[in-house]
Amino acid sequence: MKISASFLSSKNIPLDLVKLNETDVDYIHLDIMDGKFVKNKTMPFKEMRQIYRYTNKRLDVHLMVENPSLYIPLYAELNTEFITIHVEIEEDIVKDLEMIKSYSIKTGLAIHPDTKVSAIVPYLPYLDQVLVMGVVPGEGGQTFLEGTEQKIHEVRQLLNSYHMSALINVDGGVNDVTKERCQEADILTSGSYIIRSGNFQEKISSLR
Ligand code: DX5
Ligand code: ZN
Repeated sequence: MKISASFLSSKNIPLDLVKLNETDVDYIHLDIMDGKFVKNKTMPFKEMRQIYRYTNKRLDVHLMVENPSLYIPLYAELNTEFITIHVEIEEDIVKDLEMIKSYSIKTGLAIHPDTKVSAIVPYLPYLDQVLVMGVVPGEGGQTFLEGTEQKIHEVRQLLNSYHMSALINVDGGVNDVTKERCQEADILTSGSYIIRSGNFQEKISSLR
C-alpha cells in the first residue's frame, strides 16, 4: 500500500515536513482550501510553495476549491505527481482535468461522502486517481465515516467494469484500525494519525 501524508493538522509545518522527508512516505498530500468549497481556508500559494524548502517528496495536491482552474497552473509548478479536484464543483470538470494533463501531471477526482459514486462515470477516461473521502472535507482529525468501505468497493467495481486502471486513494480518518476497511485501495492518505504521533515512520509502516 502506498502512503500519502497530510500535514493539515500540523502545528509546525517546516519541522513536520523535514521529519516526513526522513521517512519512506510515498507522497506529501497538500490540502488546499478556498473558504468557499469548504469553510476553512489554507495559506496562499506564495507561502504554500515554500514547501520545496523542506521536502523533496512528490506532492499529492487535493484542491478543495470551487475554481480549480485558478490553482492548477500554480500547483503544477511544484514537484507534483497528482492534482485532484472535486466532482461536486460547478466548473467544467473535463476542462480542468485536461488542464492538469497539459502539465503532464496525473489527474484525480475526489468524491464527497454525500456524493454517489456514479457521479464520476463521465470522467473515468480522464482519471489517474479517484480520491474517496472518508470524512466531510474541510478539516483534519475527523472520524472515518461508516459507508466509506462500501464506497471504495463501489469505485473498485466501477473501475473494473469500465476496464480503467485509475488508482483508489482514501483520504480522511485513516489510521491503523480504519485501514482495515480500505483493503481495496491503492493509496492511503493520513494526517493526524501520523502528524500527532511521536514516531512518523512507525505510523507510516503500520498503514502499509
Ligand atoms: C480533509 C482533508 C484530509 C485530512 C486528512 O479535509 O482533505 O486530507 O487532512 O487528515 P486526517 O487523517 O487527520 O483525517
Ligand atoms: Zn485531503
